Amino acid sequence: MINTDIFKAIMAAAPGPAAVVTATGADGRTQGLTVSAVCSVSLDPPLILTCLDRGSNTLKAIEQAGSFTVNYLAEGREDVAMDFATKSDSKFDGKVFITPAVGLGGPVLIQDSAAYAACEVAQIVPAGDHMIVVGTVVEGAAKDDCHALAYAQRRFFTGKHLESNLALN
Ligand SMILES: Cc1cc2nc3c(=O)[nH]c(=O)nc-3n(C[C@H](O)[C@H](O)[C@H](O)COP(=O)(O)O)c2cc1C
Repeated sequence: MINTDIFKAIMAAAPGPAAVVTATGADGRTQGLTVSAVCSVSLDPPLILTCLDRGSNTLKAIEQAGSFTVNYLAEGREDVAMDFATKSDSKFDGKVFITPAVGLGGPVLIQDSAAYAACEVAQIVPAGDHMIVVGTVVEGAAKDDCHALAYAQRRFFTGKHLESNLALN
């Protein structure tokens, strides 16, 4: 098997989204964590997945609730990404959030997200030290003119430059 440092270097080379996955546990407490392991799976039905460490508090809340929300962070919200990359009990302090209208999913960080997807859990698949959580998207929205935050080489950035590239076509 490959050396851990080389594995990490390979994974760091490929950009991924910077998102906050949220859920509300059986005790009614909001949980959330920063993830880069989120991607689209299927169009029909609309499925996405996220890979969560087995020790994640948010994973426990997702298992209890049977639903979760992926908040794709907006440009300039690096501080929110770092807040949710901790085990702190006060991650939601000072954050404005709403519950999805559909009645499923975790808190929607309306001021900090470029887009969100509220999901009902479709499958949870064990994979090494993580769990692959597949969700059916039941509600969501994307803001116009709002760039989502991405992460690569342990740095945050946005796809803002895409505008000038597109303009050349
Ligand atoms: C940019 C970034 C990406 C991350 N991606 C993931 C991820 O995809 N899956 C994961 O389980 N943890 C990921 N983490 C680590 C979690 O955010 C961190 O372990 C968090 O404290 C877990 O919180 P919880 O136990 O309250 O759910 C990432 C952290 C950062 C800063």
